[in-house]
Amino acid sequence: MQVIIQPDAEAAACLAARLVARAIRAKPHLVLGLATGRTMERVYEELVRFHREEGLDFSHCHTFNLDEFVGLGPDDPHSFRRFMETRLFSKVNLDSRNIHFLNGLAQDLHAECEAYERQIRTCGGIDLQLLGIGVDGHIGFNEPLSALMSRTREKALTPATIRQYAPFFGSPRRVPKRGITMGVGTILESRTCLLLATGEEKAKVVARAVEGPMTAMISASALQLHPSCCVVVDEAAAAELVEKDYYRWIFQNEPEWAEFRQLGRRA
Ligand code: F6R
Repeated sequence: MQVIIQPDAEAAACLAARLVARAIRAKPHLVLGLATGRTMERVYEELVRFHREEGLDFSHCHTFNLDEFVGLGPDDPHSFRRFMETRLFSKVNLDSRNIHFLNGLAQDLHAECEAYERQIRTCGGIDLQLLGIGVDGHIGFNEPLSALMSRTREKALTPATIRQYAPFFGSPRRVPKRGITMGVGTILESRTCLLLATGEEKAKVVARAVEGPMTAMISASALQLHPSCCVVVDEAAAAELVEKDYYRWIFQNEPEWAEFRQLGRRA
């Protein structure tokens, strides 16, 4: 695992977007795993800017989103599908046939999840999986005690996750109680993982995920097993990391990060 600490949320999101853009330029047929959430909004804005101003080409990419609420269809304003349409899909040149999404309205959710796993395999696996982290340590909707080898499946949401989404739905009672999500095992099979976390409310869980013991209580801690995982945080989310000086030293000195040192904010 590599940890990159950026001065603020803006710089962290821009760096994450640059890492995604570099992966697309290096492999135009990239299979890109995507996440929704507040943290990702700025990343998608920046990817749209790269598309418009620098011609970043999504036309050969495939995308797979991590999760969706059970009971919400693509046209529901609160669905993750709608989130992605508004922020990214409608603004770049992705081929709609290459956008893969779990359908929260599927009659048979088990079959829907199995089909999603098959689609990922058919596309050759996910090259780069973008991840956020919940305050309870979830990645996707892999709530505490999700099996570290779990596959795409239906999952009951925790009270913490329901509280997280309550402002968007107007009240906790309106938040769906279940989600469908790629499993921790599915995520770990991605060739590279890129986790972005910003803000002081993520500081404790970032420290537990990155430096704590690996545990099903913090699904993100399973990323410690991943051979190619990069965690990008701002100073606020890095506040409780013990080895901050080491992470900074690596970023400042390792040649692989040279092209990103002067960046972080808009060039
Ligand atoms: C959503 C997802 C979630 C979020 C996480 C952080 O697709 O995968 O795991 O990434 O809940 O959400 P924000 O960024 O809103 O704090």
